[in-house]
Amino acid sequence: MAAWSLKLLFLYAILCQEPVFSTWQDSRNLYYAIYDHYYNNGTSLTDILPVLNQTEPMIILMSLALNSLNSFDAVTGQIEISGSMQLSWYDEVINGTVDLSTYNVDSVLIDHDKAWSPSIVLVNAVDTVQDIGDTTYKLRYNTADGSVEWSPRVLLRCSCSPDVTYYPFDRQVCDFTYTAWGYKTEEIRLQVKYAEWDISDYEENSVWKIVSTSTSVFFSGDKDYTNFQITIEREPLYFILNVALPILLLGLLNGFVFLLPAESGERIGFSITCFLSFVVLMQTTMDFLPQIASPMSLLCVYVFLMMCCSVFVNIVTILMMRVYHKPEKEKVPNIIQKIIRVLRCKVCKKADRENPPEITWPDVARILDFFFFLVFLGGQAALTVFFIVPLGTQY
Ligand SMILES: *[C@@H]1O[C@H](CO)[C@@H](O)[C@H](O)[C@H]1NC(C)=O
Ligand SMILES: *[C@@H]1O[C@H](CO)[C@@H](O)[C@H](O)[C@H]1NC(C)=O
Ligand SMILES: *[C@@H]1O[C@H](CO)[C@@H](O)[C@H](O)[C@H]1NC(C)=O
Repeated sequence: MAAWSLKLLFLYAILCQEPVFSTWQDSRNLYYAIYDHYYNNGTSLTDILPVLNQTEPMIILMSLALNSLNSFDAVTGQIEISGSMQLSWYDEVINGTVDLSTYNVDSVLIDHDKAWSPSIVLVNAVDTVQDIGDTTYKLRYNTADGSVEWSPRVLLRCSCSPDVTYYPFDRQVCDFTYTAWGYKTEEIRLQVKYAEWDISDYEENSVWKIVSTSTSVFFSGDKDYTNFQITIEREPLYFILNVALPILLLGLLNGFVFLLPAESGERIGFSITCFLSFVVLMQTTMDFLPQIASPMSLLCVYVFLMMCCSVFVNIVTILMMRVYHKPEKEKVPNIIQKIIRVLRCKVCKKADRENPPEITWPDVARILDFFFFLVFLGGQAALTVFFIVPLGTQY
């Protein structure tokens, strides 16, 4: 009980501490103390790691706060985000040589190049090889424990190889890999501050929504790397309306060419138009996708197969026109007559069986038209189920 109340009292003392009233001179004194330490006798010591025992590594805690997901371009395989890096470490040397507790201030801001700060670079950046931070973003020295905080803002453009197999229901996983360039793991050790990114100030993107974020550290070669990973998911509605639905409807339309009366003379024109529309849709779909062979987008394969279907519809339509317009004096072969009778059997009457009516070429064409109408409609429905259903279940 006594131990508990002591702890509570201690907590109370920490939380309800009187705010420190400090003067301009207080801040200046601390600033000079830090500045003098790093610019001793006109030489800059900002390159030496601020650890007292130089055989021990300096530990840097890292985390990332995300502000916006600017773009994800599947065609070029690049992602751009903006946010801020949050780095913190202990400056043991300042803590050890300058007695921070004697300064009557909470913290002081100082330029990142007037004291030691790490050179942190984004390894998989596509547009810059610079380290993060500039003079806009200052280091904050806390006098309470000698810790240093630094939150430079970052605009990160990274390569991220896209996986569009399930486009437009695709999920992308992108990595932002940081390292303290030039330092070995015995010198600087990177650690994760928070396992997830801070997305409290995140501005929603209209196309992509965030599924998950994570931060991890791995060791490779002789360096530590911090890996910030983000998983994003496409909002598919726009692409369904603009790409997927037109393909479906066009496929449906294509089969109906067999229901056009052969006498109308419109058939070839109609089916060629359908084929051309498929070509245009294929182009449109391809524009949204990277030019990679594997893994190929299922939607592309689907459009391609539908286009092939359209070619067959064209060929069959032309053949059917030939059947329809065969000269009347050329008799329908017996075997075909029999098949046609079997196909028509549902409607055949007893009288027909005894005295079967003569079957002409236009009759054959009409029956075949209906048959092919069902075949193509069924085939396209099967294709659709085969390709679109796995896509839909991804969501
Ligand atoms: C440089 O600094 C060291 C340590 O503070 C001091 O001992 C030395 O006298 C200084 N040298 C000059 C030239 O000021
Ligand atoms: C410095 O660190 C190394 C490794 O942790 C340790 O073996 C050594 O005793 C330390 N030296 C001092 C002076 O504390
Ligand atoms: C900073 O210095 C104080 C007093 O000298 C010490 O108690 C504290 O452990 C030091 N902090 C670090 C992180 O070394």
